[in-house]
Amino acid sequence: MRIAMNGVTGRMGYRQHLVRSLLALREQGGLDLGDGTALWPEPVLVGRREHALRDLAERHGLDASAVSTDLDAVLADDSIDIYFDAQVTSARAAALRKAISAGKHVYTEKPTDTSLAGALELASLARDAGIKHGVVQDKLFLPGLLKLKRLIDGGFFGEILSVRGEFGYWVFEGDWQEAQRPSWNYRAEDGGGIVVDMFPHWEYVLHGLFGRVTSVQALAATHIPRRHDERGQPYEATADDAAYGIFELEGGTVAQINSSWAVRVNRTELVEFQVDGTHGSAVAGLRGCRVQHRSATSKPTWNPDLPVTEDFRAQWQEVPDNGEFDNGFKAQWEQFLRHVALGEPYERDLLAGARGVQLAELGLKSSAEGRRIEVPELAL
Ligand SMILES: NC(=O)c1ccc[n+]([C@@H]2O[C@H](COP(=O)([O-])OP(=O)(O)OC[C@H]3O[C@@H](n4cnc5c(N)ncnc54)[C@H](O)[C@@H]3O)[C@@H](O)[C@H]2O)c1
Repeated sequence: MRIAMNGVTGRMGYRQHLVRSLLALREQGGLDLGDGTALWPEPVLVGRREHALRDLAERHGLDASAVSTDLDAVLADDSIDIYFDAQVTSARAAALRKAISAGKHVYTEKPTDTSLAGALELASLARDAGIKHGVVQDKLFLPGLLKLKRLIDGGFFGEILSVRGEFGYWVFEGDWQEAQRPSWNYRAEDGGGIVVDMFPHWEYVLHGLFGRVTSVQALAATHIPRRHDERGQPYEATADDAAYGIFELEGGTVAQINSSWAVRVNRTELVEFQVDGTHGSAVAGLRGCRVQHRSATSKPTWNPDLPVTEDFRAQWQEVPDNGEFDNGFKAQWEQFLRHVALGEPYERDLLAGARGVQLAELGLKSSAEGRRIEVPELAL
């Protein structure tokens, strides 16, 4: 199966989608389709800089002909089955629209567009074209969140009351130490901003584990207003670099998630979700998940005159892996490829992607207007 991959010189496109997903599938002999055959992914690297693409192809033993700087020609090629997009966010929607109208199946990074209207249009174009489509929802495939899902499915929590999420780390300003994220992330005019980047993730994580988001109240901030770019040049950070959000969920659970690129990590992992239920609580990160059952819950009393005598963190228990976890991006690629090849059902489509864009858009609106906003259910 030939897959045009656009944006493979970027952080996500290269490491997670090319190397850790499609090339990893080739290393294991292709995707086993269960009928004695295997699907063999043939990446075609698309981008703007030919030499960079050729370098990549050479480094990974791909054919030199599997490289192109001409997206239109690639999309006109009947041998291409799937168009994949991991470009900068602002370049995505136009390329997806072209791919859909060329009749390709599409698989894409999030956010699918920077506006809900655009994201919904993509979803309806895809539906009308009858193509198969998918949007990356990698966080749901993380070992920590898979363990959390196992706890939910096993009824561990009783009634789930609340979710507290902490995401973030310090992204260097780029002057005395290089920034570890691309500078477009901090420019609103280039599709940057932590709300546009992270709220789509929070939408599918909350929806997938606890219930659809029914309202949002957010405060977005630009804590570091001036940064230095890849060439060491100063620029104004026009996008938000932190967002403090409260989300009401269908079923009554309240979620609160802080997202920040201006926070120093005092956590076990770069993202952690604490879930409190009537029968038990859990703290899940990328890989680990710790629990405390009601039967093992201590009874602290508030007395600031006395020193703390209990080691509260030590009172939690690690949830065992009980299995092996593959790379989350690869696991989702496998599901999407099975959807394309075998017609297996697939829910993480462009309409699901539009829900993420909707939450980002309403989150920014909530912040700008200083009020809580209902999140209507989307339909095409
Ligand atoms: N699923 C996740 O966890 C996750 C994490 C980070 C980023 N992302 C998403 O992946 C996408 C890419 O993010 P990234 O961090 O890999 O970015 P990046 O800047 O590292 O890579 C961007 C890619 O787009 C290409 N590109 C195309 N048009 C461009 C233009 N006009 N200007 C600059 N580059 C252009 C670049 O050459 C490069 O290959 C974004 O949409 C982002 O939201 C997803």
